[in-house]
Amino acid sequence: MLSQKTIDIVKSTAPILETEGKKITTCFYKMMFDAHPELLNIFNHVNQKQGRQQTALANTVYAAAKYIDQLEVIVPVVTQIAHKHRGLGVKPEHYPIVGEFLLKAIKEVLGDAATDEIINAWAEAYGVIAQAFIDVEKGMYDTAANQENGWSDFKEFTVVRKEKESNVITSFYLKPKDGSGVTNYEPGQYLTIQVKIPGEEYTLNRQYSLSCAPGHDYYRISVKKEKDNEPNGKVSNYLHDHVNEGDTIEVSAPSGNFTLNREESAPVAFISGGVGITPMMSMLEALVNEGSKREIHFIHAARNEEFHAFKETVNAAVSKLENGHSYYGYDKPLANDGNHHFEGYLSKAFLQNMITNDTITYICGPVPFLKNVVQILAELGVKEENIRYEFFGPAMNLNAEEKITA
Ligand SMILES: Cc1cc2nc3c(=O)[nH]c(=O)nc-3n(C[C@H](O)[C@H](O)[C@H](O)COP(=O)(O)OP(=O)(O)OC[C@H]3O[C@@H](n4cnc5c(N)ncnc54)[C@H](O)[C@@H]3O)c2cc1C
Ligand code: HEM
Repeated sequence: MLSQKTIDIVKSTAPILETEGKKITTCFYKMMFDAHPELLNIFNHVNQKQGRQQTALANTVYAAAKYIDQLEVIVPVVTQIAHKHRGLGVKPEHYPIVGEFLLKAIKEVLGDAATDEIINAWAEAYGVIAQAFIDVEKGMYDTAANQENGWSDFKEFTVVRKEKESNVITSFYLKPKDGSGVTNYEPGQYLTIQVKIPGEEYTLNRQYSLSCAPGHDYYRISVKKEKDNEPNGKVSNYLHDHVNEGDTIEVSAPSGNFTLNREESAPVAFISGGVGITPMMSMLEALVNEGSKREIHFIHAARNEEFHAFKETVNAAVSKLENGHSYYGYDKPLANDGNHHFEGYLSKAFLQNMITNDTITYICGPVPFLKNVVQILAELGVKEENIRYEFFGPAMNLNAEEKITA
């Protein structure tokens, strides 16, 4: 239990740290990785370079500090992060390391302003925040390990099938190498995969949404080849170019809280851009499998037909539904593209034909796509709790002016 004095110090200094937040976390990461380079086997180096991870961690520590005497307020945020941590193998013994270097970084950046009293108060507060994470993550590790066919940490899977879905997206079907079955999971959850790429000093971890419903004897992920930037994406290119049927990759059990709520019966819209279609494929197939009578709108935006993955699969799935509709549109259409329902970006004028204020929406795509769609849905009167979205990178505040490189 924190004393009132500690709570007061932490709350009153949180805004100062927030102002210096990014500086502190940047300094923190540098010092921590110098002392513990082995942690580079867990962290995504590109997120570090692009600054998104620093912002995410800083925001969370200061948000937690503001609510240090009512941590229940930040439970949804803790849960989302804890899913990511569990998938990556973050363990209780890592927390003191993060705590030590966070405090060192606060001292370094604040200088004399960081009195012993302030540092001690933050050390105590960090302990409380860390414990909240450790407790939630323990529950998640137990669930992952104790479910049927479950395991904790990473396990070897064999690629049993590799299938091209579009110009840039390829699916990988995965089965446990030890011959066991796969676990059940919630539609919308993701796998964390770990690869050791020849020439890379550290292992690389990435999350990929499961792109089929639970109930098969395999997992399926569908990966976009990230090849339009310099340097190209490491893991996606490695998977496309070097991982083939019969090869092995390390996988941790499904995690994530962007999931289809199957208790609900209100109309639902799945809205995706580009490779953001993957969690929607799992949700759509799950609704087909249960013979759902819900009104279901599947809306997908792609560059053009060549980039449009799963077109036939979605059409076939929707045709099995009593109340299913699918729509797609292209922002850079080609002269010979087949039928499509809109051109350019998804607009309010288009969405208002199928979205009412009781529609439940699931959205996934690049950050600018998310920003646009979330704003339109809010304008159409969709309730905040019914606007549910997934980031294919560190979560961020869609209203904040942050550097975006999705
Ligand atoms: C919950 C979740 C689910 C996801 N589901 C999917 C999915 O279903 N399918 C899917 O394809 N992806 C998915 N992702 C994204 C995926 O995890 C990877 O981020 C993606 O594959 C890119 O990884 P990479 O190693 O290829 O690229 P990285 O090497 O991590 O690089 C990321 C991007 O930054 C660019 N880049 C790298 N270095 C620099 C630099 N110095 N300056 C500028 N740009 C740079 C790269 O070209 C690339 O486009 C998901 C992510 C999350 C968090
Ligand atoms: C109380 C302490 C911590 C807080 C508040 C915190 C917060 C966060 C946040 C906000 C994210 C981004 C989530 C997202 O992707 O949406 C994150 C991701 C992550 N965290 Fe933590 N974290 C803490 C402790 C730790 C520890 C102890 C480790 C392990 C050493 C760790 C490793 C990671 C990794 C590897 C990621 C994924 C980032 C990436 O690879 O880009 N975190 N954490």
